[in-house]
Amino acid sequence: MGGFLTTRMFRWTGCGEPGLSALYRRVTAATLLGAFETGAVGTTAFINNPTTEDTGNLGADSYLNREFPMSDKNFADIKQIAYRQTGITLTDHKKNMIYGRLARRLRSLGLKNFNQYCELIAESGNQEMGDFVNSITTNLTAFFREGHHFEFLEQEVFPALRTKNLPQKRVRIWSAGCSTGEEPYSLSIVMQEHLPTAGWDVRLLATDLDTEVVAHARRGVYSGDRVDSVSEERRQRWFLKGGDDQAKVKPQLQKIITFKPLNLLNPWPFSGPFDVIFCRNVVIYFDKDTQKKLFNRYADILADDGYLFIGHSESLHRVTDRFRSLGRTIYQKVK
Ligand SMILES: C[S@@+](CC[C@H](N)C(=O)[O-])C[C@H]1O[C@@H](n2cnc3c(N)ncnc32)[C@H](O)[C@@H]1O
Repeated sequence: MGGFLTTRMFRWTGCGEPGLSALYRRVTAATLLGAFETGAVGTTAFINNPTTEDTGNLGADSYLNREFPMSDKNFADIKQIAYRQTGITLTDHKKNMIYGRLARRLRSLGLKNFNQYCELIAESGNQEMGDFVNSITTNLTAFFREGHHFEFLEQEVFPALRTKNLPQKRVRIWSAGCSTGEEPYSLSIVMQEHLPTAGWDVRLLATDLDTEVVAHARRGVYSGDRVDSVSEERRQRWFLKGGDDQAKVKPQLQKIITFKPLNLLNPWPFSGPFDVIFCRNVVIYFDKDTQKKLFNRYADILADDGYLFIGHSESLHRVTDRFRSLGRTIYQKVK
């Protein structure tokens, strides 16, 4: 913390003064979040005004005349490598967004075209793979996103755990696909407000495939507009205000969280059991087969009667029968 203050060159003070700027209104942000994730809007298309090219549906090899020529074969290779490495299925309407993100990589690597880039990422154990993966992930998130999940934790899950886990006084929660940290910090807030941490061993694991978002999450520093969705009272209590309209989570929120890069498709270096898993807006990019395997692994690593929370456009219907529904996108393990 001391080091952080020195390198940042400004002091963190109590946060929550009405000064936190509201560059984007919450409603607009929420609407856009939904649109982006369902693929209704491509990032670049939104920023630059959509053109027909943004649909990615022009004829064959429509990206050959760009700064870095990308053939349809190149895009097919990129899709295949992305799927193999991450489980993420890149659809054709993501083509423009992927081109834009990877063009930055080609520029910084001094490459001339996507033939060269595809050769590079096709090599096993190549050094570019981390940056490639970081470039293709979609990391949209927000504090207290899907607020009914946090209300359910407060009203149903925590009271149940207070009784069920009383003998061992231990609670474990996993935020799988935590992006830049808004989700695990929201969890940390409700856990500290509504779970008896004194004398209990309460911990949160927060993981993501994208190493850059994990580093951001670990720092816990956000621009003012990111904390707009946090109530005034909670901003005062849980955030420090810095210069440049920035807010930093208080160390007390970070203390119970372990942040780790983790590809959900790979073996997990921990055994649980977890009481609660949040895996929201992650499997939306996975095919049914990958979803089935993942949700079965979640069932294996959850405690008996453990809870699973998924994203607003996701469902376990025809994916697994190891959970029962407790309401909108909230499940409990049954076997
Ligand atoms: C849209 S964000 C969702 C963030 C947060 N859970 C929420 O709902 O606000 C999806 C996250 O899943 C991560 N992700 C995608 N594929 C993954 C994988 N195979 N393993 C781990 N994380 C993955 C991405 O890097 C991204 O940060």
